[in-house]
Amino acid sequence: MRILILGGDGYLGWPTAMQLSASGHEITVVDNYLRRNLCREENIEPLYQTPNLHERTAIWKEKTGNQIEVIIGDLRNWEVIADAFSKSKPDCIVHYAEQPSAPYSMLNRKTASLTLMNNIEVTANVIFAMKEFCPDAHLIKLGTMGEYGTPNIDIEEGWLDITHNGRSQKFLYPRAAGSLYHTTKVLDTDLLWFYVRTWGLKVTDLMQGPVYGMFTEESSLDPRLLPFFNYDEMFGTVINRFVVQAVAGYPLTVYGKGGQTRGYLNIVDTLQCVKLAVENPAKAGELRIMNQFTETFSVNELAELVKKAGDRFGLDVKIKPIENPRKEMEEHYYNPKHTAFQKLGLKSVPLTENVLYRMMEVVSQYSADIINKRIFPGKAKWNQFNKTNNTTNSSLQ
Ligand SMILES: NC(=O)c1ccc[n+]([C@@H]2O[C@H](COP(=O)([O-])OP(=O)(O)OC[C@H]3O[C@@H](n4cnc5c(N)ncnc54)[C@H](O)[C@@H]3O)[C@@H](O)[C@H]2O)c1
Repeated sequence: MRILILGGDGYLGWPTAMQLSASGHEITVVDNYLRRNLCREENIEPLYQTPNLHERTAIWKEKTGNQIEVIIGDLRNWEVIADAFSKSKPDCIVHYAEQPSAPYSMLNRKTASLTLMNNIEVTANVIFAMKEFCPDAHLIKLGTMGEYGTPNIDIEEGWLDITHNGRSQKFLYPRAAGSLYHTTKVLDTDLLWFYVRTWGLKVTDLMQGPVYGMFTEESSLDPRLLPFFNYDEMFGTVINRFVVQAVAGYPLTVYGKGGQTRGYLNIVDTLQCVKLAVENPAKAGELRIMNQFTETFSVNELAELVKKAGDRFGLDVKIKPIENPRKEMEEHYYNPKHTAFQKLGLKSVPLTENVLYRMMEVVSQYSADIINKRIFPGKAKWNQFNKTNNTTNSSLQ
């Protein structure tokens, strides 16, 4: 298949590009380095440097002989997206290209505006580009489990059958996002659903939980092929961050009571899920929604697991509850379904002490580069959203 990967430089985009390229697909990646630039602006660079997309694809070619085409540009710009679609003529589009950080979206008005405009405009441009250049292509869009929030009933995979006054209909499962970033994903889903109904597009919307890890089969060919690995409060997902904190001797920062429960998955399972979605497309006029996580943990459980692995590794890991910068329930019911990918054949990798131990081995190679003050600067506070002076000026607005 010809596959267009939007956000192909990202934490998930680059490993996806390599994996689908290794599977024999023709890959084009598009990115404007927004993620790299935001990290630089906020002084929260990843643990190790990664080559840019031109360099990465050259290394990939040298190692495998496979070519990945690169387009650098902002997908909010119609010329860029039209060029990407008309040149690559995709059978399938994997859309990762959004501002992915909830805390970043909650910093101040400017970061909120960037998140809102970027995420909605890119999704809208993708929809219009599909209609114009490839109406029969399949779009795989990354949403988040955070779209559902933490309701007091079981979470279904995207849809809920409602019976009201004796009549029944299937509706999108009610959404109650906990940050502006998550709200942009809710808006994306509504946009997609509208154009699926109106234009009969084929769409898979993946409600993904926080991802952890850095190793994939393809990155084992050369360490320069590893994805970004952030460990800060804004772009570092919790398990990755806790592993770095453990190695740095920085107490694991549990927000509030630590009973917040979410569904997590290993980066290799993200790749498996996306490949399964590519190979088993939605039908025309279908918005297929699948919950993309493999296990649920509370933050306290994660902290305990990282502590155990760290203690075995010879680290002295401490856990320190801190005031919760977010507005969220710290103890709640959580029972999300996740059988759709299992039915398609997903064989998931569980989070074990060994998996964390292996991550610690790699992170400890870079321990001299860990900058402790990057871990939790405490900038993102949900209830201080109106302050505008707590971040650097973004030239990207
Ligand atoms: N990583 C996770 O744990 C996780 C969990 C749930 C959902 N997601 C979603 O998965 C997707 C990928 O996440 P990620 O962690 O790889 O994020 P990422 O920031 O590393 O990747 C997104 C990429 O898209 C690019 N991008 C953003 N806006 C763009 C634009 N206007 N034009 C061109 N490129 C643009 C960025 O530069 C970046 O390289 C995101 O949509 C994110 O919301 C991620």
